[in-house]
Amino acid sequence: MERPYIICHMLTSLDGKIIGDYLEEERAAYFRNLYEKIHDRYGCKAWMCGRVTLEEHFTFGHQLDLTQDNIESIPRNDYVANKEAKGFAIAVDPSGKLGWTKNYITDDYGLGDHIIEVLTEQVSDAYLAHLQKLGISYIFGGKERINFTVVVKKLKDLFSIEEVMLEGGGFLNGSFLNEDLIDELSLILVPIADGASNSVTLFETSSFLNKPKPVNFFLQEVEKLDDGGLWMKYVTKRD
Ligand SMILES: NC(=O)c1ccc[n+]([C@@H]2O[C@H](COP(=O)([O-])OP(=O)(O)OC[C@H]3O[C@@H](n4cnc5c(N)ncnc54)[C@H](OP(=O)(O)O)[C@@H]3O)[C@@H](O)[C@H]2O)c1
Repeated sequence: MERPYIICHMLTSLDGKIIGDYLEEERAAYFRNLYEKIHDRYGCKAWMCGRVTLEEHFTFGHQLDLTQDNIESIPRNDYVANKEAKGFAIAVDPSGKLGWTKNYITDDYGLGDHIIEVLTEQVSDAYLAHLQKLGISYIFGGKERINFTVVVKKLKDLFSIEEVMLEGGGFLNGSFLNEDLIDELSLILVPIADGASNSVTLFETSSFLNKPKPVNFFLQEVEKLDDGGLWMKYVTKRD
């Protein structure tokens, strides 16, 4: 394949919500923990999340102060700071909002994963200079909008990434679905209905994307979990 194999790994309520009060229920803790265990079981070298998810779980809304004079103009070329890392955390951050203070992520989600930012050319020179200073890699996905077909090909060509675990949120997943880039879905179904009508679901469509067309999935494996949950593995191509 010209691009990495892409596994979308997610946890939802019975009504397909990826966030909501159901996650605060006592029973949900077991499934959240299992989400991480199944992530580890796959053993993928690279995982990817959207800006909102990363801000919530990793940068905690930290804002950078990039108001410096005399920032030189930086050409919009991809920047590879480390292609030998044992793991990669890929951050979809079109306009450069994430307040990184180091070039890797260390915590339960993956020890020492080197950060690769996915940007549009609209990002500021000051943000690019900040990434270079920290030694964070970055790649461009387009002038104003991200083309993920281009992005995933670059991940393979520049970093030799053969598999990517796509881990939300719903808007990022929806963008991949829209470009037919999901090969596999690893879904943990939590036996709780959230009931809210306005929270994010597994696949959402950004206003600027084409009208989505339905995508077929084929069941390959199913595992009954404790306490009435399910883990399902679907693929998008029939065997
Ligand atoms: N249940 C689970 O398994 C699970 C897993 C992961 C995350 N989550 C939850 O999901 C929630 C966030 O989900 P979300 O869908 O709102 O946000 P998200 O997908 O994490 O991030 C969305 C942002 O990513 C960028 N982005 C995504 N698609 C893009 C595209 N096609 N082109 C350009 N930029 C794009 C945009 O950043 P800008 O706004 O900067 O332009 C967009 O606002 C969080 O609460 C998180 O905890 C749940």
